[in-house]
Amino acid sequence: MEIEFGDGLTLVLGKNGVGKTNLLEAIHYLGTLRSFRRAKEKDMVSFGEEFFEVKGKTDGLEIKVLWMAGKKNIELDGKRIKKVEDAFGKLLTVAFTSHDLFLIDGPPQERRRFFDMLLSKIDISYLSDLIAYRKVLKQRNALLSREEIKEEEMNIWDEQLIPLGERIVQKRRELLKDFREKVKNFFEVLSGKKLEIIYNPTFDPDKGMRGELLARREAERIYHTTLTGPHRDNYIFLVDGKDAKKFSSLGERRALAFALRLSEAETIREKRDEYPVLLLDEVIGELDRTRVYNTLKLVLSYPQTFLATAREEVLSTEGVNVIRIDTEDGTPVIERSY
Ligand SMILES: Nc1ncnc2c1ncn2[C@@H]1O[C@H](COP(=O)(O)OP(=O)(O)O)[C@@H](O)[C@H]1O
Ligand SMILES: [Mg+2]
Repeated sequence: MEIEFGDGLTLVLGKNGVGKTNLLEAIHYLGTLRSFRRAKEKDMVSFGEEFFEVKGKTDGLEIKVLWMAGKKNIELDGKRIKKVEDAFGKLLTVAFTSHDLFLIDGPPQERRRFFDMLLSKIDISYLSDLIAYRKVLKQRNALLSREEIKEEEMNIWDEQLIPLGERIVQKRRELLKDFREKVKNFFEVLSGKKLEIIYNPTFDPDKGMRGELLARREAERIYHTTLTGPHRDNYIFLVDGKDAKKFSSLGERRALAFALRLSEAETIREKRDEYPVLLLDEVIGELDRTRVYNTLKLVLSYPQTFLATAREEVLSTEGVNVIRIDTEDGTPVIERSY
């Protein structure tokens, strides 16, 4: 199907299971080339079909992705793109979905992934470093899994790993300088509580990675894995001084996840000097209504925002674009567009 979206806010309405999230996911996929539900691409193909194709067009950009048999074929303005890095973040999107609760109560890699995706959107060289770091790390861990480990071989991997690891950690720390304040402010508006973000890298960024890496070589031989580096960094969210992962209520965790996404959008806007497309999936949920409306004011100042909900009774649909997806055949119908 082909749909032309209007400016400003677009409400995506329809009963549960009609495909509202699916529509948002398709838009988000063009920006990040991955699912916001962490779904595998083979599971994003319509049941019984062999492939999927998503195509998006904005004022200055045309992007097309065709996925088939484990391979992505990406085209940017009609030109074939070989590396995912070259297409990532061309269409800037920020999505908030119920899966974002994992950012708070999931394992540390969920929080690292959040910051990695944001850093990649504002600085594509961060993504290149991250991909290179993972490759070297894999080789180094393969070496550590062996019985006999040659010092010289290890040194070769260390020389590659150190500069990449240091740059990644520096950028993670640098980002937090402004980001912390943003999340803190949004979270306070949404929940009335105080937030603190703690970033724990495995080495002191001012001292560099080498010392710590060498100091743990013996332990690494026992554990057969690399113990120092950004792949083991940890972020902790403290709500009124207590670890949100362990102690926060569902409402607080949702508010925090939403605050993180709003801060992501604002950071992208500042650093890339461009507004991302906002994709808000069932944002109303358990969040306090008046507080959400205060925050939505910011969202409304963005040039294009999609808000999907099955609970249209809590919204005013006046003066905004409306797309309704029917239960009958799942085809989105544009009810109103500006
Ligand atoms: N690969 C797929 N092919 C076809 N249908 C799918 C696929 N994956 C999920 N679905 C179906 O899509 C529906 C969910 O769509 P979704 O976009 O989450 O709905 P909504 O957000 O409107 O509640 C479910 O009925 C689910 O079974
Ligand atoms: Mg949904």
